[in-house]
Amino acid sequence: MALLDVNHLDVRFALRRGDVQALRDVSFSLERGERLGIVGESGAGKSVAAFSLLNLIAKPGYIAGGSIHFDGRDLTRMSDRALRHVRGHRMSMIFQDPMMTLNPVLSIGDQMVECLKAHRRISTREARAIALRKLEQVQIPSPAARLDQYPHELSGGMRQRVIIAIALLLDPDIIIADEPTTALDVTIQAEIMALLLELCEKHNVGLILITHDLGVVSQVTQRMLVMYAGRVIEQGPTREIINAPQHPYTQGLINALPQMATPGSRLNQIPGSMPSLDNLPSGCAFHPRCGFVERADGTTRRACIDEVPGFVTSGNCRVACHMVAEMLDRERIPAEEIR
Ligand SMILES: Nc1ncnc2c1ncn2[C@@H]1O[C@H](COP(=O)(O)OP(=O)(O)O)[C@@H](O)[C@H]1O
Ligand SMILES: [Mg+2]
Repeated sequence: MALLDVNHLDVRFALRRGDVQALRDVSFSLERGERLGIVGESGAGKSVAAFSLLNLIAKPGYIAGGSIHFDGRDLTRMSDRALRHVRGHRMSMIFQDPMMTLNPVLSIGDQMVECLKAHRRISTREARAIALRKLEQVQIPSPAARLDQYPHELSGGMRQRVIIAIALLLDPDIIIADEPTTALDVTIQAEIMALLLELCEKHNVGLILITHDLGVVSQVTQRMLVMYAGRVIEQGPTREIINAPQHPYTQGLINALPQMATPGSRLNQIPGSMPSLDNLPSGCAFHPRCGFVERADGTTRRACIDEVPGFVTSGNCRVACHMVAEMLDRERIPAEEIR
């Protein structure tokens, strides 16, 4: 079994007008030291997925089905105490907004010491020494002086370095980073991403990187998931998906990249917008925006409108698309012809 093994995860929000299914049938795995990207437009369910992995979905949200095996144990069935151990020691999370993690009224050093002492039986002196070492690892200028500074005294980029230092504090196996650089200046974004990649590689830490930046995903991750309206619609090795996307939505995301536009032309945005989860279209949730519901010969593929597509395996990828399934069917040589 992989270090992290997620199967048929189903997450819902119990709202007054009924349950909204925020994740349906999400399955993937992560090997030790592996880096996985999760991409998709805003509202696709990426953050819900991140929080679910730590069993941190807050009410009215709940995990309605599926399993999350971490190191052989199912997080969805763990006691609160065991969960706290996993969250502290084994998996840590980096949020888009550093202030979600940093306490404004504590110095950087005090928060790091507090976090260490909550999880390990060590003296304040030992904890401060570890904190300093982690600040050195994230290459923050004058690390010793930072220990006594408060979050508001640091720039955005430095704060995110501190966040990475805190994420690494207890030597986790996996870091889940939810849009970790979105709030930063573009030039700083690249520095922080490079740092995160370097540290994960050096310490063999697995990374689940949530981002809407396909460029970053292709540079940093080995495997990726593409999410749409609460489902994974394509998953597989990052290079294969970036080089030869099969799902029309993934193709659309890649065509919408600025570098794919011919100079002087407008960006090739996917028409329309993602549906809200409480009002999903029939069949494939992407079908109202998809250019392939109609076949090349002018006939309509009814399945796109009527049936939720299941997964088909194509190359090393899994794709949930009726068109891809139909193409694979056509390529398949009937058994009698092989004989
Ligand atoms: N606290 C909540 N209450 C109700 N619905 C929620 C809540 N959080 C998320 N959702 C639902 O899950 C969807 C996906 O949210 P999210 O995972 O934050 O998207 P993103 O891919 O942008 O990170 C939202 O559009 C919303 O329908
Ligand atoms: Mg999000």
